[in-house]
Amino acid sequence: MSILVLGGAGYIGSHTALALVKAGRDVVVADNLETGFRAAVPDAARFYEGDIRDRAFVDRLLEQENIDGVIHFAANSQVGESMVKPLKYYDNNLCGTKTLLESMVAHGVDKIVFSSTAATYGEPERVPILETDRTCPTNCYGETKLAMEHMMKWVSAAHGLHFVALRYFNACGAEPDASIGEAHNPETHLIPLILQVPQGKRSHISVFGKDYPTPDGTCIRDYIHVCDLAQAHILALDYLMQGGQNDVFNLGNGVGFSVLEVLEEARRVTGHPIPAKIEDRRAGDPAQLIASSDKAKTVLGWKPEYDSLQTIIETAWAWHQSHPTGYEQERG
Ligand code: UFG
Repeated sequence: MSILVLGGAGYIGSHTALALVKAGRDVVVADNLETGFRAAVPDAARFYEGDIRDRAFVDRLLEQENIDGVIHFAANSQVGESMVKPLKYYDNNLCGTKTLLESMVAHGVDKIVFSSTAATYGEPERVPILETDRTCPTNCYGETKLAMEHMMKWVSAAHGLHFVALRYFNACGAEPDASIGEAHNPETHLIPLILQVPQGKRSHISVFGKDYPTPDGTCIRDYIHVCDLAQAHILALDYLMQGGQNDVFNLGNGVGFSVLEVLEEARRVTGHPIPAKIEDRRAGDPAQLIASSDKAKTVLGWKPEYDSLQTIIETAWAWHQSHPTGYEQERG
């Protein structure tokens, strides 16, 4: 029996595929390699290149492999892009999930764990955010992820699908041995952008807004290590295998750091002064996003291991130093 990781060549997907391999599971990875990298897929996993919007491809996968659970990361995930190309997000995130679920129902594969996001909440009513708090996305990316959650609910009611949605906060860090890590093009996330300064790829980091209602005026986020996210997927799948009910879980550390605090920690870790320039706010950024992950800890038994900001930045820095061009060197 095997676990199918869709989008397993991407950032969080590849770390989860590796964690599954290390846990002794039989792993099948599928990815269209639009934003993922073949080199990020563990050697022990069987790899299929294809797109979840291609019904024949998904049918073939489910017919050739003996799949007893699916972990679904195959989606577009850039907030800014989703605002200028909303239909791309509806097509990949929603139409892709619809095709996947059609095939799963047809083949009797009834367990799925999938990536949702803190962006489903929009501007939070309070922090820390509970799973029961209002969901009111302020961008198209979050809207499509919330719609995926709803799609799962109705397909579950009609066809007996079992699902867990994991709402990630700010994913960051890299595999501690620096074998895999974060490689987005274009990069929009704070930590990898900060680390581009000591790498000589940019002169400074732009701080988007210093007039937020937070102690130092910059936005506060809940940074969660990618390996801790990976473990949560395994726990969620095991929970479904053991008869767990459909559910939604936040995944964060429950501690918030401001942009300036992240920058200060990165200066300590890298030993580089990392110049910063205060700029205007970026549209659509909530002042604070901090998760309550008590439910994941209680119900799934999740225990984040890499929960210090220092460790998070150290693992990211080790990856970026050893892979200055991301996975490009592995291609050549
Ligand atoms: N930031 C800067 N300068 C930069 C980049 C980011 O100041 O060059 C700030 C942002 O304004 C924000 C914080 O750093 O306050 C973190 O920004 P990221 O882009 O790293 O992450 P976001 O919080 O915007 O996005 C994350 C996930 C999304 C998810 C979103 C939920 O990456 O997938 O949280 O709101 F949708």
